[in-house]
Amino acid sequence: MRDILGEKMKFSLVFIMAGLLSGGLQAADIEAGKKRAGVCAGCHGQDGISIVPTFPNLKGQKAAYTEKQLLDFKNKKRIDPMMISQAKSLSDEDIKNLAAYYESLGEKK
Ligand code: HEC
Repeated sequence: MRDILGEKMKFSLVFIMAGLLSGGLQAADIEAGKKRAGVCAGCHGQDGISIVPTFPNLKGQKAAYTEKQLLDFKNKKRIDPMMISQAKSLSDEDIKNLAAYYESLGEKK
C-alpha cells in the first residue's frame, strides 16, 4: 500500500512540475480572453451559452480542450468554415487566453 501511494505521489509531483514548466512561462490572461471573446459572443453567446442548436456552448469547457479545438481549426485539422475563418486571426496567445476565459466561466448550465 505505502509503495503504491509513494508511486502515485511521485507521479503527481512530476505532473505538477510539468504543468508549472509549460504553463509557468506564459500564464493565460483571463481578462484578455474576455475582451477577445467579444466576436465569439455573436455565435457562442454572451456568457458562452449559445442560443443556436448547432453552435456549441463554450462555458465551463476544459481549457486544454478548447485550446486544442482552436488550434485544430487554425491548422485546418478540424474543418468548419465558420470556425476556420475565426481561428485564422487568433494568435497562440489569444487562443490560450480565450480557453482560460471560457473555463473560468464555471460549470456548464
Ligand atoms: C459565425 C459563428 C461563429 C463565430 C463568430 C465563432 N464561432 Fe466557434 N463555432 C461555431 C460553430 C458553428 C461551431 C461548431 C463547428 C462544428 O460543427 O464542428 C463552433 C465551434 C467552436 C469550438 C469547438 C467547440 C467544441 O465543443 O468542440 C470552439 C472552441 C469555438 N467554436 C470557439 C470560438 C471562439 C473562441 C470564437 C471567437 C474567436 C468563435 N468560436 C467564434 C460558430 C462560430
